[in-house]
Amino acid sequence: MCGIVGYLGLNDAKEIILNGLKRLEYRGYDSAGMSLYDGENKTFQLFKEKGRIVELEKSLTTTKAALGIGHTRWATHGKVNRENAHPHMSSDQRFSIVHNGVIDNHKALKTMYFDNHAFKSETDTEVIVELMALFAKQMPVPNAMRKTLKLLQGSYALLVIDHESPDTLYAAKHRSPLLLATADDGMIIGSDMMALIGTAERYMALEDETFLQMSKDDATIYDLDGTVLPYDMSVFDMDVLHTEKGNFPHYMLKEIYEQPTMLRGIISKFFNGNTINISQMLLKSIKKHNRLHILAAGTSMHAGFIGKGLFEKLTGIPTEVHIASEFAYQMPILGDKPYFILISQSGETADLRACLLNLKKKQYPTLTITNVITSTLAREADDALEIFAGPEIAVASTKAYTAQIAVLSILAYALSCQTFALKRELSEVAIAMEQCLDNVDYIDDLVKQTLTKDHCFYIGRGNDYHVSLEAALKLKEISYIHTEGFAAGELKHGTIALIETDTPVIAIISNDKTAQNTRSNLAEVHSRGAKTLTIVFESLQEPGDEIVLKNVNPSLAPLLTVLPSQLIAYYAALNRGHDIDKPRNLAKSVTVE
Ligand code: G6P
Repeated sequence: MCGIVGYLGLNDAKEIILNGLKRLEYRGYDSAGMSLYDGENKTFQLFKEKGRIVELEKSLTTTKAALGIGHTRWATHGKVNRENAHPHMSSDQRFSIVHNGVIDNHKALKTMYFDNHAFKSETDTEVIVELMALFAKQMPVPNAMRKTLKLLQGSYALLVIDHESPDTLYAAKHRSPLLLATADDGMIIGSDMMALIGTAERYMALEDETFLQMSKDDATIYDLDGTVLPYDMSVFDMDVLHTEKGNFPHYMLKEIYEQPTMLRGIISKFFNGNTINISQMLLKSIKKHNRLHILAAGTSMHAGFIGKGLFEKLTGIPTEVHIASEFAYQMPILGDKPYFILISQSGETADLRACLLNLKKKQYPTLTITNVITSTLAREADDALEIFAGPEIAVASTKAYTAQIAVLSILAYALSCQTFALKRELSEVAIAMEQCLDNVDYIDDLVKQTLTKDHCFYIGRGNDYHVSLEAALKLKEISYIHTEGFAAGELKHGTIALIETDTPVIAIISNDKTAQNTRSNLAEVHSRGAKTLTIVFESLQEPGDEIVLKNVNPSLAPLLTVLPSQLIAYYAALNRGHDIDKPRNLAKSVTVE
């Protein structure tokens, strides 16, 4: 989703912004642009291009810039084209702006203030820069900015430059993330930690309803009434090495391979001998409640389904999983003592933020489980647990899913009075993952033989069904094969009509109680022409099974059964020649509702 970087200082803003935008590519985007102040020629120049950042790079003519703002756009309002790409410039050419978020009342503002004005783009952003220009004719720029911000409804992270004042950069934030950082000889501001790597020294996340004015040495942060707010910065310690591909052709493959080591890392973070490193206060607080509600989106929601099983089995506390975007506006009946667990890799998903704001208003207790402990959802929930997956760059989430499940299992275990050796069982999973990763060429061959159609089904029962949902999402996200995950027993109640000759159906079988039922469902589709493939535990293996996995504790089976499905998705996308790390239309961190 859209990314923002701005720089003001003695180094070259063009290079710093370009590097930042490249690091934000992983979020997904469809056009990119930059506004730069060329100190030597004392001019502002605006560049934007549809497509990849390399296109923008080719178009840049500024040699060195002291001030600049850059943007990667993931289209929401208006088509993917150059006109709609950011930055947008005011019609009097005084201001340039980049914006993340959505201005809900942009149409009303256009009608109210600019009845006969011909806007150049279809975006909800251009009206902001026109308002700035309009008000700046009557008052100083900071006042014009405050007046503009007070009119906006919706979400924004904004950077604004005043072409008459090349020593200043303005920014504002409400509901879309924005981080301010000091750099060597300057200041940098960006929408994501990744944008700041290599430049930032100390950093902080801005709060909602704030705006700031920054020079090359300093920044002053205000609330919307103009009161100066105090702030504190932390050391920026994200390592460039963790964000590189190394010898892997794609981030996704690297991240798939990282899972066994990551799992061992999670074990060492959470276990101190056999004691679990989760605060007793947090555990006590959860135990006081009689219903858990998990809120999440996408892959994190699929991890939530596995979490539900773990919580119910280990703690006996009834647990429900909700789609965040639904829960935000249709809060169901919650029970008398509900506790909320928000799961989010990025910690920035707008659908979850909308839920969290509602929950906080009602003073419900909340815990965020996230990969980014400095994120908005981690900061704003009552408690936060980090999943320690390390930076996940590929848009298609893999290691974050398994890390989320591992941490959910540890939390459920810590809340229960179970005596099974979770630490050892998780280590067994890491070993079984490594065994599976030794056979990737075999999986590639199976993909070539089986995934010959544009449709596919994953089926399973219980946890295997929930993994089927994630497996199907992974395959459709990057290979664009239309795939559905189905409860194996449900397929025959209608959807079996879609099975034709050679339709691929992949069954996940890890549970001895339901293995035979799933096999019967597989036989039903096989006899109607489907090409079938099985992912099974060793102890349940039958002649003809294709992908056989070492047995692990059944409660932890999803950590392992998902692995071949990630590889299936990877090879299917590779064989079809797709851009695996940046699939079409998708964004890694979805910061609009
Ligand atoms: C986007 C990503 C998905 C992710 C979902 C939730 O749609 O493409 O991979 O699962 O957002 O993101 P979160 O950061 O909240 O886990």
